[in-house]
Amino acid sequence: MKKVYISSSLEQTEKIGAEFAASLNGDEFIAMYGDLGAGKTAFVRGMASYICPLCRVSSPSYTLINEYVGGKFPLYHFDVYRITDDDALYSTGFYDYPGSGVCVCEWSENIPYAIPQGAIRITLEHLGENERRITVIRDQNEDFSD
Ligand SMILES: Nc1ncnc2c1ncn2[C@@H]1O[C@H](COP(=O)(O)OP(=O)(O)OP(=O)(O)O)[C@@H](O)[C@H]1O
Ligand SMILES: [Mg+2]
Repeated sequence: MKKVYISSSLEQTEKIGAEFAASLNGDEFIAMYGDLGAGKTAFVRGMASYICPLCRVSSPSYTLINEYVGGKFPLYHFDVYRITDDDALYSTGFYDYPGSGVCVCEWSENIPYAIPQGAIRITLEHLGENERRITVIRDQNEDFSD
């Protein structure tokens, strides 16, 4: 299933993020893609405003992982912009996470080998100074084989 949104402001991107978060079960992995300044952190801020309204979201670029607990479900926010290989990823503790809670990962293009099967993929693209295209892809993983 694919959904495409056009956002024309930061606030609209946050709102789309909040609405997206309201559709989650609480155990998903969300792989985010998009250039510098595309609005990935803004989208996650919107997600967190729904999941954990009392949590504050900053860009985790320097910490790699931010955890937001105490909300409807845990939210683990990764930013792997600086990750260049699997050893570096491993040492962040990335592989200890998925399980319970929602993981959302900025710069997933850097770690294609580590994105779990069935992840929701979200791509943000610049269309103009304040315009962004946000594409959400959920693979149904439907098995029609029998
Ligand atoms: N429609 C929009 N949606 C989101 N951000 C927008 C929009 N229009 C303008 N902006 C601006 O774009 C920037 C988005 O920053 P943000 O930190 O969310 O991007 P990012 O994709 O996380 O970048 P990085 O790769 O550096 O982590 C902000 O400065 C914001 O004000
Ligand atoms: Mg960011």
